Amino acid sequence: MKKLLCIALLLALALAFPVSNLLATRKPDPALRTHVKDARHEKVASIFEQKCLDCHSDKATLPFYANLPVASSMIAKDIKHGTEEFNALLDCFGPTPPNEAVLARIQRVMEDGSMPPADYRLMHWGSGLNSEDKKALMEWIRFARARANGQADGTHPLFASPILPLTAPQGLNPDKVALGRKLYHDNRLSGDNTLSCASCHDLKKGGTDQAQYSTGIKGQKGGINAPTVLNASHAFVQFWDGRAADLQAQAAGPVANPIEMGASWNDVPGKLKADPDYVAAFAKLYPEGITKNSITDAIATFEKSLVTLNSRFDQFLRGKTDALTADEQEGYRLFMADGCYKCHVGQALGGESFEKFSLHGDYFAERGNPTPADDGRYAVTKNEADRHKFKVPTLRNITLTFPYLHDGSTSDLAKVVKLMAKHQLHSNVPERDIALIVKFLGTLTGELDGRPLK
Ligand code: HEC
Ligand code: HEC
Ligand code: HEC
Repeated sequence: MKKLLCIALLLALALAFPVSNLLATRKPDPALRTHVKDARHEKVASIFEQKCLDCHSDKATLPFYANLPVASSMIAKDIKHGTEEFNALLDCFGPTPPNEAVLARIQRVMEDGSMPPADYRLMHWGSGLNSEDKKALMEWIRFARARANGQADGTHPLFASPILPLTAPQGLNPDKVALGRKLYHDNRLSGDNTLSCASCHDLKKGGTDQAQYSTGIKGQKGGINAPTVLNASHAFVQFWDGRAADLQAQAAGPVANPIEMGASWNDVPGKLKADPDYVAAFAKLYPEGITKNSITDAIATFEKSLVTLNSRFDQFLRGKTDALTADEQEGYRLFMADGCYKCHVGQALGGESFEKFSLHGDYFAERGNPTPADDGRYAVTKNEADRHKFKVPTLRNITLTFPYLHDGSTSDLAKVVKLMAKHQLHSNVPERDIALIVKFLGTLTGELDGRPLK
């Protein structure tokens, strides 16, 4: 009898929390609600409130037992871990659509059923995502993805995937593109007339210099690998540490950088004004004439035209299934299944977020010889949490943009994929799979000005 009573008591206790959770539904989160402008997506906001925000926001209202001794530390740990890993839910309904790095991750946890975590579902009955939730979420993901890619309608099958084919840039003034191309290749933008943008971002070398570190004016070596300019317009910010907001802001940098082009913006416009062709071309396009602003605008416009369309992978995505071999298709499947796409997403397969390198283990301790370039985003924010965070590089044309990583430490693509699996995914991907992923990466090389890059 006593035993039965004990069991009943334990059972009642075990049920008390889930039942209390059942009765006390979460209150709408004002921070989230103010942003839901589209009534169709009310449902998604409410899913986030009811089933996600407990752990993905430090502002959520928690149930009473969150203050009890053991529960409180467990819950605090969940919130800390959950917000650290993913703190973008509250921004999902902001004025700008969430970027692909966010959408891809939500889609992933929805499809693999990993969120909310199993122990949470045990305590919060009915908190799992049901088929209606999933339908609403997927509709919203497609809608947000379409908007982020300049389309109003997300029903096209392409919008089901976090990786999209490159689309041709729209609305570029061809005369500005031509002027920008000339400036990009013009040595007069450097202090001693020896270097142009193309010296370090050679369009015949995948938009890079294919060197570990670049050589600037008077033979000076830089301390960080030069990323490609190809498809750079797709990146949400420029530079490894994101210190330039866009291509125009970026273009002002190297000209005046003493170890790159070593010129002064006080001198460059004057030098170009001595050239009647430039005077005429600028006069036609810019009422202000030749200034730092018009020069960098023309260069940025040219860079926006550097989108490498029509890779075999893009042909495949657009429905030409035989554009990839069976091995390459398997490599793509592994790229998705292993989770590479959590960071290498969108049209450029990268450039959508800052991510820490490395998340598991310590790449820098293993490599040795620390340099200031290893600081990454920390250099801009001075926030310790941003140390070793880098803008995720694009994987487009990756076979041409060696050596790899911000430190340019290797030209061996298989080695980089192994480092990624180990440090970013904490997974021991078999050699065979690494080789298949490398084969897939080889299909990302596109065309420039209608000619295949090589
Ligand atoms: C009980 C707390 C909890 C709840 C509730 C919860 N999460 Fe999480 N979430 C976490 C934790 C902890 C992590 C980090 C590690 C992990 O994957 O377990 C995480 C990770 C994530 C990630 C990043 C996954 C990745 O691989 O990068 C996403 C996206 C996410 N959650 C979305 C959601 C969504 C959407 C919901 C609601 C449907 C939700 N979470 C509900 C605790 C929670
Ligand atoms: C001396 C070599 C050198 C020259 C010359 C040079 N760059 Fe760079 N460029 C680099 C390096 C190195 C970086 C990476 C620096 C960093 O992230 O801190 C870079 C970064 C960039 C990026 C950012 C790409 C990304 O993914 O973040 C763009 C765009 C770019 N350069 C365009 C230009 C343009 C335009 C010019 C001419 C005005 C130019 N560069 C001149 C070496 C050079
Ligand atoms: C958690 C985010 C994340 C994941 C997951 C991830 N990467 Fe990366 N990847 C990065 C970052 C950040 C860098 C830049 C690191 C650096 O330069 O120090 C990078 C760099 C690379 C590079 C070098 C690019 C270049 O131009 O230098 C390749 C190739 C690459 N990743 C492929 C992959 C593959 C394949 C996978 C899956 C096995 C993967 N990544 C998974 C974040 C990630």
